[in-house]
Amino acid sequence: MSLLIRGGKPLRGTVRCDGAKNAALPIMAGAILSEDISIIDNVPHLRDVETMSNVLRSIGASVRVRGNSVLINPGKRLRNEAPYDLVRMMRASFLIMGPLLVRLGVASVPLPGGCAIGQRPVDLHLKGFQAMGAEISVEGGFVKARADKLKGAEIYLDVPSVGATENIMMAAVGAEGVTVIENAAQEPEIVDLANFLNSMGAEVTGAGTSRVKVEGVKKLTGTRYSIIPDRIEASTYLIAGAITRGKVMVENVIPTHIRSVLAKLKECGAYLLEGPRSVEIEMPSRPAPVNIKTLPYPGFPTDVQAPFMSLLALGQGTSLISETVFENRFNHAEELIRMGAKVKIEDSNAIVEGVPKLSGASLQATDLRAGACLALAALAAEGQSEIFGTEHIYRGYSDFATKLRLLGADIEESGIPKRSYAKS
Ligand code: UD1
Repeated sequence: MSLLIRGGKPLRGTVRCDGAKNAALPIMAGAILSEDISIIDNVPHLRDVETMSNVLRSIGASVRVRGNSVLINPGKRLRNEAPYDLVRMMRASFLIMGPLLVRLGVASVPLPGGCAIGQRPVDLHLKGFQAMGAEISVEGGFVKARADKLKGAEIYLDVPSVGATENIMMAAVGAEGVTVIENAAQEPEIVDLANFLNSMGAEVTGAGTSRVKVEGVKKLTGTRYSIIPDRIEASTYLIAGAITRGKVMVENVIPTHIRSVLAKLKECGAYLLEGPRSVEIEMPSRPAPVNIKTLPYPGFPTDVQAPFMSLLALGQGTSLISETVFENRFNHAEELIRMGAKVKIEDSNAIVEGVPKLSGASLQATDLRAGACLALAALAAEGQSEIFGTEHIYRGYSDFATKLRLLGADIEESGIPKRSYAKS
């Protein structure tokens, strides 16, 4: 599968964002904390959501998808071991560990895989479980955890990991006593998970700050919950409007969730018009250069770093991008260079010297956001691009080609099997 894009058309019109992938995945995992049925609404149609559904099925839950709603019936009898072939596909699968520990007192989950963006350990998740009294061992690539009864604890995270905050929060909900997570991640998706858990009867406070407090409860019930819109998808379509020098209205976005991205787009010279749940962008000229440093929320999101690099590659000067959240998250730069971009990588910095135009090329997406970055560059480039590795894009963007086509992009999905080609 590949995407064929003939670039150079200014995008115009309205695009509607789906629910947030990074909220849907932990919330689906959290649903197994109760034996009862939960319904989750506003769930995007994505590969990663399918993978999480299959992970939950593999441990004995029933999962049914109806439109954008997912019905999860965990039932009374869950299995404590998740299969390697599913978990390796997506790092977020590891989020079943906390809920399984609560439900069964024992869990065996393979060390996860996911995007090829550097080392992504789970040591902080495990330290949290250990602080709550779990015994942890790693055997044959599986993390095995056992805790007859989890106990509330004070846990300090060395870095504000999103996944560790979520996994520990879910374990803490079923622990005896109070858990406090210090230096917790503050992403909107953490708040969404806390709201979901509270709607099941949990007592989580402080989500969205660096100190999350969880009072353990004896039992959780099923619930119905609608997840927040996807701020990374919204940011991507705003950049699509900017990079093609068009005018795009992005609907179903919460502007406060993308403050840092909006600030940088403004600095680039974009005109922005905010509504309560929409942002319109118009870009009159080539972007001014800006410096970006990725940081945990509310800083500039690492997931928007790659898409933003495409925009800066066409800037009227030199921009500096510092990636502080993940190492090896500049895989897209090499492909941008093949389109004529001038990017130099020095450790965790990318120096992007803007050029007046990019040219279409055959391109390989190596991870989800790198795929989005290349598609954006292709939309602005002269000539045709073919992007391989689109399965990465569909992990995180639903109806990607259709939404762009509705904005006037010349984009086709091709069923040609993925072929290899030499990188220059
Ligand atoms: C989540 C998001 C992902 C986003 C990332 C950072 C989901 C499903 N995915 O990923 O899209 O790019 O947040 O915003 O929500 N770390 C450790 N030890 C750990 C855990 C993490 O050292 O136990 C480090 C990682 O290597 C990384 C940093 O912490 O350098 C941030 O990772 P983390 O916030 O955990 O990312 P994810 O939850 O995997």
